[in-house]
Amino acid sequence: MRSRLSRLFLFLLVGATACTTQEIGAFDPQGYGSVQIDRLWWIILVISVIVYAFVMGTLILALLRRRREAPDIRQSAPPRGSHTYVTINGIVLPAVILIGVFFLSLMTMNGLNPDTDENTLVIEVTGRRWWWEVRYPDSNFVTANEIHIPVNQPVRIRLISDDVIHSFWVPSLHGKVDMIPGQVNEITLQAETVGSYRGQCAEYCGTQHGRMAFYVIADTAEGFDAWLANQQEPAVEPEAEDSLVAQGKQVFLTASFAYCHSIRGTAAQSDVGPDLTHLASRQTIGAGILPNTRGNLAGWVVNAQSIKPGSLMPAVPIAGEDLQALLAYLESLE
Ligand code: CUA
Repeated sequence: MRSRLSRLFLFLLVGATACTTQEIGAFDPQGYGSVQIDRLWWIILVISVIVYAFVMGTLILALLRRRREAPDIRQSAPPRGSHTYVTINGIVLPAVILIGVFFLSLMTMNGLNPDTDENTLVIEVTGRRWWWEVRYPDSNFVTANEIHIPVNQPVRIRLISDDVIHSFWVPSLHGKVDMIPGQVNEITLQAETVGSYRGQCAEYCGTQHGRMAFYVIADTAEGFDAWLANQQEPAVEPEAEDSLVAQGKQVFLTASFAYCHSIRGTAAQSDVGPDLTHLASRQTIGAGILPNTRGNLAGWVVNAQSIKPGSLMPAVPIAGEDLQALLAYLESLE
């Protein structure tokens, strides 16, 4: 019953937002914070349904009674006890319910973040138009649009913005928190299950706000450590100097890409766009909007403006051979 209701509301939500909501799991809580938000949501829904049914029932009863009795109600005195009835149901009950829900919400908000200590993993996420820069300060590397965390462990996420207000939202794991320029907000994520959870910018930040997505990937402790160790490494070098991959590296460094992106271990050291040191290890490109496949990558390199108009990534005129070499190089960056 509950899952059927969930699907109904999900359906209404999809109708209201017309986005890829099937991956956005507000009704599929898998995190410390989201479980409590979900519980509060169901409690408020049940209270609302009861209040609505009571109000509507009373209204219908009153209408039926008025038809049967008192042809001219204006001249009859109000029935005995009617003032008490109105006082209780119109003032006392609503006040009790609203104050109760208010404190329930406050208590829930207060307990959304699990406890942390000085050993807790810290990740810094910066909202950019329109992608997410993800920094692991203790391990000294930057990645983009994919946040890896160990399962069943609290992780502190420091949220900042470089340009306008964004909002960090992974419905399966936690509530929304705004990212405000000049301010650091913090939440603590804790995923209860291994999995990949889609997040989305939840504050309108410009034309591509709707395409500002990301993934939080909760892995086992061993899986996470292996990922962390790999990310800390500089980019892999092409094996043979005359290989297609090596040619692709030259294309990358001589064309405009190196002015905007970083690949650690090479001369490309700009932070205008996402760090590409381990691009091939990521599941999506364009901030969670396309699977990271050769075809999508080619389309993105050649004309990102047709995919994400207004983003900083320009269309790059590039010869077919160079493109093939470049793609081979980008796909080698695991
Ligand atoms: Cu960033 Cu909306």
